[in-house]
Amino acid sequence: PKERGFLGPALFFYQGFWCPSRILHNVVTFQQHFEGRDTDVILATKPKSGTTWLKSLVYSILNRTRFTEMDHPLLTKNPHELAPFLEFNVYSEKNEGLPDLSNISPPRLFSTHLPYGPLPESIQGSKCRIVYMGRNPYDTFVSAWKFVTGHNPELHLEVTIEDFLGHFLRGAEAFGPHWEHVLGYWKESLGRPNKVLFIKYEDMKENGTREMKRLAEFVGCGFSQEEDRDGVIDRILKLCSLSNLKELEVNKTGKYMPSVKNKLFFRKGEVGDWVNHLNPSMVERIDQMMKEKFEGSGLEFKRNS
Ligand code: A3P
Repeated sequence: PKERGFLGPALFFYQGFWCPSRILHNVVTFQQHFEGRDTDVILATKPKSGTTWLKSLVYSILNRTRFTEMDHPLLTKNPHELAPFLEFNVYSEKNEGLPDLSNISPPRLFSTHLPYGPLPESIQGSKCRIVYMGRNPYDTFVSAWKFVTGHNPELHLEVTIEDFLGHFLRGAEAFGPHWEHVLGYWKESLGRPNKVLFIKYEDMKENGTREMKRLAEFVGCGFSQEEDRDGVIDRILKLCSLSNLKELEVNKTGKYMPSVKNKLFFRKGEVGDWVNHLNPSMVERIDQMMKEKFEGSGLEFKRNS
């Protein structure tokens, strides 16, 4: 199919969001069988909001005493492998039977693109922690556009950027509507701050050290003064930087997700690249929607660096 699971008939409206039909079965299996533990850490994002970055950062925070800069798993594995998606990888119907997750030593690190509402009760109801990374919709949209058009050129979407924006604004895109996705986790983070930490891509870019401290505290392993002095935070930030990860062989030539080359997860990583791709009328349409959906919620995003 031309649309490759991002738009139109390749999506199925399920429990309030547009689920790529090809993973619907996985989603249901995940909902029915996942047993959350209090020590679990779940990374949640809307696609193209910084998932890959968040995975590298939180994995590195949690495992910082286990590896050196010479033998760090990020040097040879794509970040998605280190914090697998529950609905794409862990509960893939292509795996044989159900996964045995009982032997993974705590804290187990998983990820999801699902909105908050459809998460299984064992995640919502347990003490496991959720870290959500949100990003301004202008850059998220452009990143999504670049991502889908960066796939095998022979399978290009037969859709213009204007049409793609129409789908984005209406919510008819993978894991959309965008607005409800972000707001769902935002509200939960306000109501249950020990359960959901809401991190913004733009804040991480602007003040990585401060955000790293928030992340580490939240997942239960804050940085000690000694670590602070020794530059541990800076080293993790450097290891996980786009410029570093992008140049690693595994991310240049590898393929962890069956349908996506690793290199497609790394592009520019800037705040404000949307100015190079959106015309004034497109910006106006996103402005309108932002106003309509986010007004009164207290949620704001920077959109320029
Ligand atoms: P751009 O397309 O704007 O460059 P996701 O990981 O959710 O798929 O999001 C991909 C976006 O995050 C892309 O944005 C990508 O370049 C950016 N990204 C990937 N790794 C990053 C990193 N280590 N640091 C900052 N941004 C990163």
